[in-house]
Amino acid sequence: MITPVISATGLWTPSESVSNEELVASFNAWADKWNAEHAADIEAGTVEPKTHSNVEFIEKASGIKSRYVVNKSGIVDPNVMRPDIPERPNEQISILAEIAVNAAKMALERAGRDPKDVDAVLCAASNMQRGYPAMAVEIQDALGIEGFGFDMNVACSSATFGIQTGADFVRSGSARSVLMVNPEICSGHLNFTDRDSHFIFGDVATAVLIEAEDMAPAKHWKILGTNLKTQFSNNIRNNFGFLNRCAPEGIGATDKLFVQEGRKVFKEVVPMVAKMIIEDLERLELEAAHLRRMWLHQANANMNRLIASKVLGREATPDESPTVLDTYANTSSAGSIIAFHKHSDDMASGDKGLICSFGAGYSAGTVFVEKAA
Ligand code: COA
Repeated sequence: MITPVISATGLWTPSESVSNEELVASFNAWADKWNAEHAADIEAGTVEPKTHSNVEFIEKASGIKSRYVVNKSGIVDPNVMRPDIPERPNEQISILAEIAVNAAKMALERAGRDPKDVDAVLCAASNMQRGYPAMAVEIQDALGIEGFGFDMNVACSSATFGIQTGADFVRSGSARSVLMVNPEICSGHLNFTDRDSHFIFGDVATAVLIEAEDMAPAKHWKILGTNLKTQFSNNIRNNFGFLNRCAPEGIGATDKLFVQEGRKVFKEVVPMVAKMIIEDLERLELEAAHLRRMWLHQANANMNRLIASKVLGREATPDESPTVLDTYANTSSAGSIIAFHKHSDDMASGDKGLICSFGAGYSAGTVFVEKAA
């Protein structure tokens, strides 16, 4: 059988970022304005006033200090409270495809791969820009890749599901080189007027090149094993779609944007993921002590601390379970790939690690890797 490996990764980071301080200032200004506009109803007791958000709460509850975004001016304007991303004509590359291409170019360059030798493109992300044509086909066209491409959405687990799909293509011989990209403009689906979640997400794009071992560069990652799991839950949900028309234009659209029961997610997903990792280790005849590093999904620092400690039987050091939440926030499917991309150069040949994602669905995916050279 042909052995699939990870040849290289790529990362594209927006140039603009919003700190917690800036985000909270705009939220609080919006809340004050809303309260002034609804003063009579608040006075009559028919509506609850909006409460201020708080920088200390955000950092303590999530570990997030800042987030990169494709548009800052709209997000921090209390009269707008969403990113200002102009629609582009069909003749121009879509913004989601553009950022995926940026990350893909880095992965291809790092692998020394000519796009002509790539056979398939998977665009695996939570927040697709449109129904069709598939984003993957537009990305394929922009890069000059022949073969085929398609989109897949498994929310925050899209990247690990994409890696297993790419690896299966390589194993079966239907493709020898698969480019898997995760463009995530999460700020587009975030309700910046919801105090419970306005701080959660950021924007980014990542890319992973999955290839047959015999064509991969010497510096690659063996894939020791992958596993995917889904279990239905309404606790993280987004009802946007053409059958569910968007709420009236403007601030306050609710269920067509990101909605979650954060506490329930925390309580239910932590044990599910820890159990999955422990069982996968057993199946692969590995021990937790063999893992030099875990690149966990980047949603919440406390969640990661708990999962890592359940797996290791002790607290993980920042070196064993690195975070990018402080600067990137939650970037959905891209989070664990950013962590892997940024924190893997120091790994030695033979070092093993785990890329792990989890999120809406619920969905969870594990990819166990070993540095080849
Ligand atoms: N500023 C200040 N206070 C806030 C606040 C804000 N922005 N948002 C919520 N609070 C308050 C709440 O009103 C609540 O107050 P109360 O105790 O008086 O009722 C208190 O803080 C605790 O709120 P809660 O929602 O229970 O916070 P939490 O500790 O669970 O943290 C999350 C919230 C979202 C950070 C956390 O639940 C989480 O990360 N869950 C998992 C999320 C996840 O992984 N989602 C996947 C997305 S893909």
